[in-house]
Formats: sequence, C-alpha cells, structure tokens
Amino acid sequence: MLLPTPEDCGRVVADAVIASVTAAQAGGGPVALGLATGSSPLLAYREMQARHRAGEWTADGVRAFLLDEYVGLPAGHPESYREVIRRECTDELGLEVHGPDGSAADPVQAAVDYEAQLQAAGPVAVQVLGIGGNGHVGFNEPGSSLASRTRVKTLTERTRLDNARFFGDDVEAVPRHVITQGLATIREARHLVLVATGEAKAAAVADAVEGPVSASCPGSVLQLHPHVTVVVDDAAASRLARAEYYRYVLAHKLATQGW
Ligand code: GLP
Repeated sequence: MLLPTPEDCGRVVADAVIASVTAAQAGGGPVALGLATGSSPLLAYREMQARHRAGEWTADGVRAFLLDEYVGLPAGHPESYREVIRRECTDELGLEVHGPDGSAADPVQAAVDYEAQLQAAGPVAVQVLGIGGNGHVGFNEPGSSLASRTRVKTLTERTRLDNARFFGDDVEAVPRHVITQGLATIREARHLVLVATGEAKAAAVADAVEGPVSASCPGSVLQLHPHVTVVVDDAAASRLARAEYYRYVLAHKLATQGW
C-alpha cells in the first residue's frame, strides 16, 4: 500500500496487525505476535497503544516474539531489543516478551533454543517487519540463505553504522554479532506486514518487492509468502516501477478482500 505520509503508514500497519491478532484470538488459545525493532514500526506501535487504551482491541492471550537481538549486551541493557520493544510497545499493552537470549554464554545454542521456542509457540499470527537500507530483514544481512533458521549472524559495517545512532553515535559500541530469526523462520508467520518510510529505503523496497528473489536482497523472500502486506510512504515507494498499478489496486479494493 502506497500512502502519503509515515503517519498514514502507522495507522494502516496498526489496522493490519490488530485485524490479524483479533482473527487469531477468535480461534482460541494463545496468539503469537511478531514484533520488530527499528524506527519504522514506531508510529504503528503508538497507534496500537492508543487504540488499546481506547478499548478498540484487547491483547488477551497475546505473547510477543522478537525477530532478533544483539549478542553480548548484558540483560537489561537499554538498547537490547528486548528492552527497546518493552519500552516502545509491549509494556503498555501488558504483553509478555520472548526473544533470543543475546547475553547467553553460548549464543549459538541460544539461537537454537529460540528457534525451538518459536516452533513450539507458533505459528506467529502476524509478523511486523522493517527493512534495512541494504535490504536486510530482521538481521538477515545480504547473502543470508532464503532457507535460514534462527542463528548467529555477523553485522555488516553499514548496519553497524546505521545503528550507531542508538549507541551515542559510537559505532564501536554496536555489537558485531546478533541472533536473528532466519528467513525461513520468518516465512512461517501467517501474515507478514512490512513497513518502510523515507527515501533512504526506496531502493531496498524496490529490490525486495520487484527485484529477483535472491539472497542478495533478503527482503525479497517476501515474494515467496502467500500473505504479505507492504506499507510504504510515497518517499519509500519512489523507486517502484509499478507504483501506479499498486495505487489503482488500492483504490479499487473489494470490501471483501480484507488484508
Ligand atoms: C534494524 C533491525 C531490523 C529493522 C532495520 C531497519 O537493524 N534489526 O529489524 O527493520 O534494521 O531499521 P529502521 O526501521 O530503524 O530503519
């Protein structure tokens, strides 16, 4: 969906996530909600919180699952993704948060354990995703196998530089290693909702949505999934070749088509 502003994207992502969570709740039993860190989903999280306060949806039975985590930050570090997601999203919603244990003595085993936890708790009903400027999703950097499972990855220097802003602009403070859900793990979520805003994401969005399916653009794995909602503002959509058609589709969506 191509929308004019980041605020519009936040509203629509919240609509999509709440719709999928509510549908999953109707099935009874616990619901796994996949959450992403990064700045892209923040407006959606605000919107989800506001609607929750307004009583428009309930988080009953919902548990949050992280996409990824830094390796080596001590538990409780303010920039660990578990803390970030609690602060930005789940504390207010009252959700339990599960994620890889980046502070474990053996991160390789921690990744295996988290994959097993996801298999036991899943499938994730709806997974929120951002995309890196280099096309990464979660922390699956370019070159990641499209069949990958949760594992330890080494960040590119570009990603470390991009994320240095969260570490007082000190790139050396950004961990080199992470644990991330693999691309095949992410694909197992029932509904993927990717949000991207701003010109800096335009090339990655075009590669992910319209480029070849390739490990060189991990976001292109979305093309193999049967239920994906891509929500971008006009700036992030600026390199899409078929933008006009996507707008036409949205303008003529059938009421029964849903998300
Ligand atoms: C981070 C995260 C991703 C996120 C991406 C984009 O490093 N691991 O899950 O989608 O990079 O971040 P942002 O939304 O801040 O641009």
